[in-house]
Amino acid sequence: MRTTTIGCGYLGTTHAACMAELGYDVLGLEVDPAKLELLRQGIAPVYEPGLSEMLARHVESGRLRFTDSYEEAGQFGEIHFLCLGTPQARDGLGADTSQVEYAVTHLAPHLTGSAILVGKSTVPVGTAERMADILDFLTPEGVESDLAWNPEFLREAHAVDDTLRPDRIVFGVRSETTEKRLREFFAPVIDHGMPVVVTDYATAELVKVTANSFLATKISFINAVAEVCEAAGADVVALADAIGYDDRIGRKMLGSGVGFGGGCLPKDLRAFQHRAGELGVDHLMTLLGQVDAINQHQRDRALQIAKAMIGGRLLGARIAVWGAAFKPGTDDVRDSPALTIAGQLHLRGAKVTIHDPKAGATAVEMFPTMGYADDPVEACRDADLVLHMTEWPVFREVDIDAVSAVVARKQLLDGRNILDLNAWRAAGWTARGLGRH
Ligand code: UDX
Repeated sequence: MRTTTIGCGYLGTTHAACMAELGYDVLGLEVDPAKLELLRQGIAPVYEPGLSEMLARHVESGRLRFTDSYEEAGQFGEIHFLCLGTPQARDGLGADTSQVEYAVTHLAPHLTGSAILVGKSTVPVGTAERMADILDFLTPEGVESDLAWNPEFLREAHAVDDTLRPDRIVFGVRSETTEKRLREFFAPVIDHGMPVVVTDYATAELVKVTANSFLATKISFINAVAEVCEAAGADVVALADAIGYDDRIGRKMLGSGVGFGGGCLPKDLRAFQHRAGELGVDHLMTLLGQVDAINQHQRDRALQIAKAMIGGRLLGARIAVWGAAFKPGTDDVRDSPALTIAGQLHLRGAKVTIHDPKAGATAVEMFPTMGYADDPVEACRDADLVLHMTEWPVFREVDIDAVSAVVARKQLLDGRNILDLNAWRAAGWTARGLGRH
């Protein structure tokens, strides 16, 4: 069976490689010439554990190929996955769906046989209906076509596993025949006992943005509570543990600190906020706006605490920043709290040195004038303050004595509430968390 993946960014590359892994012949379409060249050589355009090996293996065997031709894609198979980006619109909070629209418009005239377009991109509710209209209008005579929406819930750093073993599969469909064909296609995944939710387009579209907004709300909730803990002399980590034992609440996504970033949570939250406003649901718009505001506030808060710890004067202060990626396990720095905070300190005159196990190179592209070090200890040489911003294991496992030997002042701010503050204090450090004592 043959299938295509239209758009080979983060989502598309992972999807294409995983479909090849399931045994399908896959053609990936990518219009960016630089990315296409890498993919054809079997090189993943992003760092993701396990992805490069899988990609290289299937490119080598010929089961996975790449093209930039919509004509070739249309003729290649009958199930086409739309994995295009939907970035935040330049002129506002909403999502820009133009790449998805471009793909449907350019693929539809080349479809053959009985084709299904399966949208995986995260889109504002109402987009699928609009894409279905375009598809119906542009499908050549004698060809059958249909559209389905099948949102993707993969997390960076776990993308391969989340694609092959998702918590659930959602099909937004308008025909039973399409549902049946999708169930057949995904049988190797569904057979692991995965729940399948079959619904209409609008619900399927909303499932994704609702899930991400809910996760974001959990994080902002605990971060707002962390501020209360700080004011009241309580400990937010023990508190999160205690409420997390209630399985109606759960401990996941209650990690407090400098907040959420990345290519999905902030963007999806804002897009949903905007769409809720368009649909006249003002209370939800306000709620989501607050979730975003609380999240942004954590970055300012960390900045203010850092400034206070070094005596109020950033100009000339030496600050080591541990982490640049928006979370561990990735080289992605999009909307990263770590890099935003480092950048702010740098712009205010501090001498910042960053270490990140994977994201150093991408961070340099954004802030070429900041300092970068190859290991966590070296980043701390002569530092007045160490900021722990992305919870890579290497920071948890660092030799405290080795760090103590190179710093100017033994001061640590744990922006992820993960480090053992008592161990640092025992070595003579002033060590702080956010919402801890
Ligand atoms: C997220 C969703 O989890 C995923 O289902 C969706 O498909 C895409 O968006 P991802 O962006 O890869 O995935 O990251 P996630 O692991 O959810 O973390 C998002 C951000 O929240 C990171 O910046 C992380 O550091 C932060 N976070 C996460 C917290 O601050 N506290 C937590 O407890 C968990």
